[in-house]
Amino acid sequence: MANNEEVFKKIISHAKEYGFVFQSSEIYDGLSAVYDYGQNGVELKNNIKQYWWNAMVRYHENIVGLDSAIFMHPTIWKASGHVDAFNDPMIDNKDSKKRYRADVLVEDYVAKVEDKINKEVEKAAKRFGDAFDEKQFRETNQRVLDNQVKIDEAKRRLYSSLEAEDLEDVRKLIEDLEIVCPISGSRNWTDVRQFNLMFSTKIGSVTDDSSVIYLRPETAQGIFVNFLNVMKTGRMKIPFGIAQIGKAFRNEIVARQFIFRMREFEQMEMQFFVKPGTELEWFEYWKSARMKWHLSLGLGAENYRFHDHEKLAHYANAAADIEFNFPIGFKELEGIHSRTDFDLNAHQKFSGKKLQYFDPELNESYVPYVVETSIGLDRTFLALMSNAFTEEKLDDGTERVVMKFPPVLAPIKAAVLPLVAKDGLPEKARMIMDDIKSEFMCQYEEKDSIGKRYRRQDAIGTPYCITVDHQTLEDNTVTIRERDSMKQERVSISEVRDIVYRRIKG
Ligand code: GAP
Repeated sequence: MANNEEVFKKIISHAKEYGFVFQSSEIYDGLSAVYDYGQNGVELKNNIKQYWWNAMVRYHENIVGLDSAIFMHPTIWKASGHVDAFNDPMIDNKDSKKRYRADVLVEDYVAKVEDKINKEVEKAAKRFGDAFDEKQFRETNQRVLDNQVKIDEAKRRLYSSLEAEDLEDVRKLIEDLEIVCPISGSRNWTDVRQFNLMFSTKIGSVTDDSSVIYLRPETAQGIFVNFLNVMKTGRMKIPFGIAQIGKAFRNEIVARQFIFRMREFEQMEMQFFVKPGTELEWFEYWKSARMKWHLSLGLGAENYRFHDHEKLAHYANAAADIEFNFPIGFKELEGIHSRTDFDLNAHQKFSGKKLQYFDPELNESYVPYVVETSIGLDRTFLALMSNAFTEEKLDDGTERVVMKFPPVLAPIKAAVLPLVAKDGLPEKARMIMDDIKSEFMCQYEEKDSIGKRYRRQDAIGTPYCITVDHQTLEDNTVTIRERDSMKQERVSISEVRDIVYRRIKG
């Protein structure tokens, strides 16, 4: 997959042109970092949800689902730490009036220096050919070593000042690294301040301070506060999990990069409740299980990597991200966190209710530890779009854009196309459509030439096109065209449903 802005721009415009993603409120000039999913986008999104739900809930007998409300008691966010600590350190550039996340400015600086190192390594690899020893080069080349020192020092200072909440030093670090505003090019920075990312609103008709509630910034807390309800009513025994898919809201300041960072987005989260002391084993289990799930999508193992957290949140004793190689580089797609008993303990304290499990083997009660898996639905969508987007030059000199989605996730599974819109072909095609549409999402199309219709289906990633032609009237056969190879085979109408079903599931 090409790794550049040009491709990213093409994917964004393709997403709009073919009804996957629209800017929210577009006719009013849009709402920044908020997006709507169009007719094909919503199908793809639903398929991703189903695929995740099946893997987590259907195939794990000890994981059940939940759909908790977005609005929750405001004390939940006090207990979880979000009111006091769900902050980003922000800095403004006085000339451009643009606001940035201070840590992201430093991380961008680090990425640029890493880029320099990689270019140096690439150059040397070309120069030395087969004899090139990359490890030795990285350990001995002076320019690489100097740049690595810059990276290590910038990271060390950033993390230690954030840890110590020394925002003045974060500002000084930005100055010392001579970081300029990408818009104004100046170094005229304000102080760094903490900015809470939660959206708030008022509930009820009386609007005093006690009526302030928050739009949830993660779905996880809805699971924690229902831990007891689900455990009792579902007769759950530890270890067990609760999974949920739902909207989350964050007032992101650096909200760019299309659906990668949104203010309203969807998460697919699972909290796995375990016996204290076993959490790190479960953490490893879920790291591996979640990576397997990603690999099952077939987007290429080389496009995934783990990033183990060096700096852990105060409630975690282990954390790792699964990163995906988006056109904007390797970025976080899913987080796996060992959250200890922090959340349940905090809710016990703030609510005054016991949130414990009675372990019949130990004959004692304890607050379970939790391993969380948390994946962004929109980022998974973007990963699939980026990986699927393919521009191809065909043997006849023409070009096509084809979305090579895994068939199981493709928005439309099969298109039913009469070769021409006459001679009884549409009627025959409609019969096939009626037969298969209860099984999977299909589309019927008779307008334009067959070539144009194939191109349209390629552009939305339909894996199979079923064409009804004049021979169909004679022998009840149709052709099935496969999207990626464009190969066609003739099969009996009675087999169509089974063939498409088997190939999609396969
Ligand atoms: N409950 C844990 C939690 O919320 P997180 O790392 O803040 O952890 C989990 O978020 C996942 O949610 C991320 O890996 C990412 O895929 C997705 N996500 C977070 N913020 C997002 C945003 N502003 N826009 C789109 N997806 C986002």
